[in-house]
Amino acid sequence: MQDLAKWRKEFPILERRTYLISNSLGAMPRRAEEALLEYTRRWKVDGVRAWQDWWELPGQVAEKIAPIVGAEPGSITLHLNVTTTEAIVESCFEPTAERNKVVYTDMNFPSVTYFWKAQEPRGYQVVTVPSDDGVTVNLNRLLEAIDEHTVCVPISHALFRSAFVQDAKAIAERCREVGAYLILDIYQSAGVVPVKLKEWGVDFAIGGTLKWLCGGPGNAFLYVRPDLAPHLKPRLTGWISDERPFDFVVNDHVYTDGPYRFMNGTPNIPGLYAAIPGLEIVSEVGVDAIRRHSLALTQRLLDGARERGWKVNCPLEPGQRGGTVAIDFPDGYEVAQELIERDVLVDYRPKAGVRVSPHFYNTLEEIERFFEVADEILQTGAHLRHKGTRTVVT
Ligand SMILES: Cc1ncc(COP(=O)(O)O)c(C=O)c1O
Repeated sequence: MQDLAKWRKEFPILERRTYLISNSLGAMPRRAEEALLEYTRRWKVDGVRAWQDWWELPGQVAEKIAPIVGAEPGSITLHLNVTTTEAIVESCFEPTAERNKVVYTDMNFPSVTYFWKAQEPRGYQVVTVPSDDGVTVNLNRLLEAIDEHTVCVPISHALFRSAFVQDAKAIAERCREVGAYLILDIYQSAGVVPVKLKEWGVDFAIGGTLKWLCGGPGNAFLYVRPDLAPHLKPRLTGWISDERPFDFVVNDHVYTDGPYRFMNGTPNIPGLYAAIPGLEIVSEVGVDAIRRHSLALTQRLLDGARERGWKVNCPLEPGQRGGTVAIDFPDGYEVAQELIERDVLVDYRPKAGVRVSPHFYNTLEEIERFFEVADEILQTGAHLRHKGTRTVVT
């Protein structure tokens, strides 16, 4: 643990706040600020000539992501957010009368379910496998729901509400058996839980840089299994996917064989600049070391919560737990507000509670600080002054 503390100086916010919210927004690396200044310098000084380098940037960022998630070189492209990236994947499919099922669980991130449900008029039939306890999903029930009529299985690896880690390998195997495609949402796992896309045989994976990868908003990424990629022609496409984009041929679109095949329009260049320092740091620290540290801190959170008789909505078994411990206090929203006002940064989600998400740059002392502040709030009832203030949509 001592060893990882050396990274703290790379994250300025840690000097001022108890930052326990990397499931939502990873802390900004100091070097991200320099990277964004370099972006504005290039724009100012080189103007349009900067495109010579900017054109390569999505590919360069992709190559930094690939080893973190166990992906092959050239298998990842950069996009804007998970929701629209889901649409790119969907646009590779065509539902038929025999194969039209989309199977997911009610623990998915809402955006993914809104997107697929909205596709039903196109001929899909959504099948939702419910969670029994609001924390886990029964693997056998999920596997049984995936059959020869299934087009795809868009599900989360680590669940946003409870941090339960689903068995991606078993689900990928079942998909392969019946000819369905797994679309694994790795937003809540990439950078904190080991992800092995190639080894597990995952078809598609979608994630983003803003949480555990400390790369800021505006970047989602898409992994496509390399042997599958050349057979796919996304309908949500554009000039960047063309074999010769700078020929600007109007009526003869030929998909490139390279990874940009899955891209469409102009990429988010400042977002890509901002993402690089976080990706480099996460790579250097290594996901295995991050995982060991994360499990030690989440275990301390679990133990401390249970000593106090607080209800936790996350798996107790370390192997099934992602990076977050959700503590279901009565008046959880108000408790979260008061913690935030006292510079202990966490968040609140309905049906989960106060989500506490330490990362590699956090320490056991910060977990103790969380308990100290939370105890004080509950003893004094300080949080109750936030009653009736819940105006933001969480
Ligand atoms: C599992 C998961 N998927 C997706 C998202 C976000 O999706 P989008 O990039 O479309 O905003 C989140 C954000 O909290 C998430 O936790």
